[in-house]
Amino acid sequence: MAVNRPKPLVAGNWKMNGLKAAKKELASLVKGVAGAKSKPGCDIMICPPATILSLCSDTVKGSGIKLGGQDCHAEASGAHTGDLSAEMLKNAGARACIVGHSERRTDHCESSLEVKLKAEAAHRAGLMAIICLGETADERSSGKTIKIVGQQLKASLAESANHKNTVIAYEPVWAIGTGNTPTVADIAKVHGYIRKRLIALLGDETGAKTRILYGGSVKPSNAKELMDIDNVNGALVGGASLKAKDFLGIITAY
Ligand code: PGA
Repeated sequence: MAVNRPKPLVAGNWKMNGLKAAKKELASLVKGVAGAKSKPGCDIMICPPATILSLCSDTVKGSGIKLGGQDCHAEASGAHTGDLSAEMLKNAGARACIVGHSERRTDHCESSLEVKLKAEAAHRAGLMAIICLGETADERSSGKTIKIVGQQLKASLAESANHKNTVIAYEPVWAIGTGNTPTVADIAKVHGYIRKRLIALLGDETGAKTRILYGGSVKPSNAKELMDIDNVNGALVGGASLKAKDFLGIITAY
């Protein structure tokens, strides 16, 4: 398994934060990565608001830091006021797109079927899809974590999924933005289960190579402990990705 261990990915989701001035924070991150004593052992991505993707694209040029969108419409174009297609995100500089984040599933009532169509749209545009899954506090306390995660995974995974174009992010809803994280044993159990399901759904090799990120209150102080867990292949970071110093603290754990 160690030989097959995929290269970790640390992705920052800025959510609805970031005006043009955020370019300065991104420039600090670029500088911090370039000036680090050793080359980071992970791929690095920032998912800013779509309004500043182009601007950020100029800032990260040549740095190795990739950009992603936070959501996309399933169609390539058309009469969908206010929506953005995966093709538009790609055109603005994105290489990936988050789909099915719990805030989208809750605020916009997105079903796993819609998430799957969005993941397929990302692939159609040549973007990597970062598919988010995770149980709510109620689902967890009633012992349904594995069942919910299994259902979301099966229903949200694009037909076109492979280890190069798809990343899974396990994000317990109750851990997002709260400072609370599951125990190491709980994360190992869920990630181990996702790995098993990925192997069943995508085949031995692809299933073993597909990255599974953990997300939910990842910060510099817990990054190392989280990355050492079996089948944790990186992190999806919200709050701690907004400040270059904090995000660098997470990256350097890898
Ligand atoms: P958080 O958010 O790191 O602020 O908990 C994680 C996420 O929503 O991806």
